[in-house]
Parts: sequence; C-alpha cells; structure tokens
Amino acid sequence: MNKPTVILAQVYKTYRSGSDDLRVLRNVSLTAHEGESIAVVGASGCGKSTLLNLIGGLDQADSGKISACGFEVSKLNEKELTAYRSGGVGFMFQFHYLLKDFTALENVMLPMLMTGSGQRKAADEARLLLDKVRVADRADHFPSQLSGGERQRVALARALINDPQLILADEPTGNLDEDHKALIADLLFSLTAESGKTLFLVTHATDLASGADSIMRLSEGQLIPV
Ligand SMILES: Nc1ncnc2c1ncn2[C@@H]1O[C@H](COP(=O)(O)OP(=O)(O)OP(=O)(O)O)[C@@H](O)[C@H]1O
Ligand SMILES: [Mg+2]
Repeated sequence: MNKPTVILAQVYKTYRSGSDDLRVLRNVSLTAHEGESIAVVGASGCGKSTLLNLIGGLDQADSGKISACGFEVSKLNEKELTAYRSGGVGFMFQFHYLLKDFTALENVMLPMLMTGSGQRKAADEARLLLDKVRVADRADHFPSQLSGGERQRVALARALINDPQLILADEPTGNLDEDHKALIADLLFSLTAESGKTLFLVTHATDLASGADSIMRLSEGQLIPV
C-alpha cells in the first residue's frame, strides 16, 4: 500500500446555533493514500463540504485528529497553515470563490505568485492549465464574464497550479455538460493514477463517483463504504 496522505482519526464536528446542536460528523476515521481517489457521497446537508473544509484547514474539528501531507491540520500555526494551503492542498470549492477583480488567468496565477514564483512563470503555468480545462480562450475574462461551468474549470486550474499532493474537489462537475464532465473526471483521475496525488471528491453525480477507487457515503455523521 502506498504512503498515507490523509489520516482522519475519530473526528467530531458539531455546529452550535442557539439551543440546537447539529452533530455533523460523529467519530469519522479514514485513511487515504498516495495515488488514491475517494468519492464522498450523501444527501444534501449531510456534511460533505464540512468534511472537506476540515481536511483543507478552513475549519476546526471539535475533537479528533486530522493529518494531511505531513501536517497535523488541527494544530497548524498561521505560517504552517499558509504553507499547507498554498502548497500541500489544492482546494476546489463548491461555490468556486474566484476573486472578482482579477481575470481568469490572474486567478489561476495567484496561488503560484503567493509562493514566490515570478510573473512570467506563473502566467505560463496558468495558461497551460487553462488550456487543459479548455478555457484558455477566456483567460482575460473576469469571473462575472464567465459561465458557471467556465468558472468551475478556472477554479480547478487554480486548485492545481501549485501541483498539490492532495486535491479536495467539492462538486467539481456541478455546472458542466457531459463532455466537460468527462474532461474534468479524466483530469482528476489521471492526476491520482499517474502522479500519485490523493483526491477527495464530493459529488452527487454517481457516474463521476464510480470512477473513484472507493466511494464513501456520509450518513448521520458516519462514513460508510459503498
Ligand atoms: N457555519 C455553519 N453553521 C451552522 N450550520 C452549518 C454551518 N455550515 C454548515 N452548516 C450545516 O451543517 C450541515 C452540513 O453542511 P454541509 O455544507 O457540510 O453539507 P453538504 O453535505 O456539503 O451539503 P450539499 O450537498 O448541499 O452541498 C447542513 O445542515 C448545514 O446547514
Ligand atoms: Mg456541500
């Protein structure tokens, strides 16, 4: 078995709002390895995005341990968190979050510039990735000038630009037609199979999920193999 990239051990997460406690994750444990793709499926509101946010270091678990890419995610200081977010993990969010005042090309370049790369190198790499996700001809458009599916593909290019060891993709094909769905699925799965990356994929699309090495269903706070 390849090296573990992500280890979740007895992770709990509850959202507290007033008197209501929403127990979203209850004792979730899972190990993902290099070269492995895991699809996480489950009903809307079951906690899939929450799980990715915890792995991505965007939110904190109440208890339990999460390690990813050699970092103990729950214990990172600001500097380590920046290093993890900019290098170790590539996050494609459910609602993309491209920066509205930057073009598609600039959005993709940003994570690379933040790690100290020069403009030219970042622009070249960003163009390559935009080409891979077939939005190169929209490189100079602002997010408001892109379709939903184009934004989603730009967001994927941005998630990949620093060549992350771990890819977290939340509904990466939500707004795409069949051809582009297949393109993105191929790209994501080839990155895991050929480059040894680890992929967590959240999706409602059963055909996309079925391409992963394993499928886990999140239900009542528990991850169950499908
Ligand atoms: N910051 C928050 N505060 C309180 N409750 C939250 C918060 N974020 C999410 N929730 C609730 O936690 C539950 C899990 O949310 P989450 O976004 O993880 O679901 P999901 O499985 O990704 O759903 P979907 O498939 O619709 O994207 C939902 O019931 C949601 O309303
Ligand atoms: Mg979600």
